[in-house]
Amino acid sequence: MKAMTYTQYGPPDVMTLQEVATPIPTDDEIRIKVHAASVNRSDWEGLIGWPWYTRRGGLTKPSRHILGSDIAGRVDMVGKNNTEFQVGDEVFGEMANYRDGFAAHAVARGKLLALKPAGMTFEVASAIPQAGVIALQGIRDKGQVQPSQQVLINGGGGGAGSFAIQLAKLYGAEVTGVDNGEKLDFMRSLGADHVIDYTREDFTKKGKPYDFVLDLIAYRSVFAYARALKPNGKYYIVGGALSTFLQILALGPLISKTRSKHIRILAVRRNRKDLEHITELCQSGKIRPAIDRCYPLSEVPAALRYLGDGHAKGKLVITVAK
Ligand SMILES: NC(=O)c1ccc[n+]([C@@H]2O[C@H](COP(=O)([O-])OP(=O)(O)OC[C@H]3O[C@@H](n4cnc5c(N)ncnc54)[C@H](OP(=O)(O)O)[C@@H]3O)[C@@H](O)[C@H]2O)c1
Repeated sequence: MKAMTYTQYGPPDVMTLQEVATPIPTDDEIRIKVHAASVNRSDWEGLIGWPWYTRRGGLTKPSRHILGSDIAGRVDMVGKNNTEFQVGDEVFGEMANYRDGFAAHAVARGKLLALKPAGMTFEVASAIPQAGVIALQGIRDKGQVQPSQQVLINGGGGGAGSFAIQLAKLYGAEVTGVDNGEKLDFMRSLGADHVIDYTREDFTKKGKPYDFVLDLIAYRSVFAYARALKPNGKYYIVGGALSTFLQILALGPLISKTRSKHIRILAVRRNRKDLEHITELCQSGKIRPAIDRCYPLSEVPAALRYLGDGHAKGKLVITVAK
């Protein structure tokens, strides 16, 4: 089968489209003929090998050679212990190891997959899993966002951020989106009431505190984040520098005690129920997966370059098979 592969960390040029062995599912797995896959920052991070925690599968070179964690396609083989899906089912979801999706076929355990709604294209379905579930668990579960609350989404113009802005608006919050200047109109189009260009302004220094901050890309100190919160406000880091994660792990509980501000890590628990819930919201038109561009499988490097260069608004999708 065709797959976009890489054997060393580096820029998108290290990737090549190759013929590799088509995977065979184990008894507990199913195989999916991939029709579409979407691009996440986790693919970019896995490609360049930074932040450092993305190298947990291989310190000096990647141990798995195919990136791609969100897929949508048709089941074409089932392991004998699998009772959930049948050959021919149209499914979508996340790959367990954030890998192996940029390929003509992928094998997966069924529990992170769901049946694709009949009226939804493979491209749209592939755009939802990782970004949509991050946003749902951030805004609904950790934020417990309420009407009229002040909510800030840092990285609001990217994949998870584009879902998070819409969800926070759906729950009635007043929303501020932070991203680079190229994405300000895009965040407004998703419903953001206020926007901040991170290349010009530091939201933690504006003197405007928030009830909830969902941070998709955190590089500041834990004290800066505490400053950006109202008393009893909550901050959750989703992605960013390893040093920021470590600082929040070490000092977050102390800040909760001394300043009544809650600063924590959002470790996403991927599951079918949440995937189905966010997909229902998309189907009902309450929110929309915002797809910037689609690329063929051979152009995964171009898609990753577009994301890495700071241009991607919302989601990028790879059409693997028509
Ligand atoms: N915690 C978990 O369990 C978990 C699970 C899965 C994924 N993740 C992480 O979730 C993160 C977000 O993923 P995603 O796919 O939504 O990423 P994304 O689509 O790349 O969105 C991130 C956005 O943040 C912007 N940005 C970059 N630097 C910024 C800064 N200093 N301040 C404000 N915005 C900035 C980016 O813009 P530019 O174009 O300017 O760079 C981009 O628009 C990733 O780091 C991923 O590793 C976490």
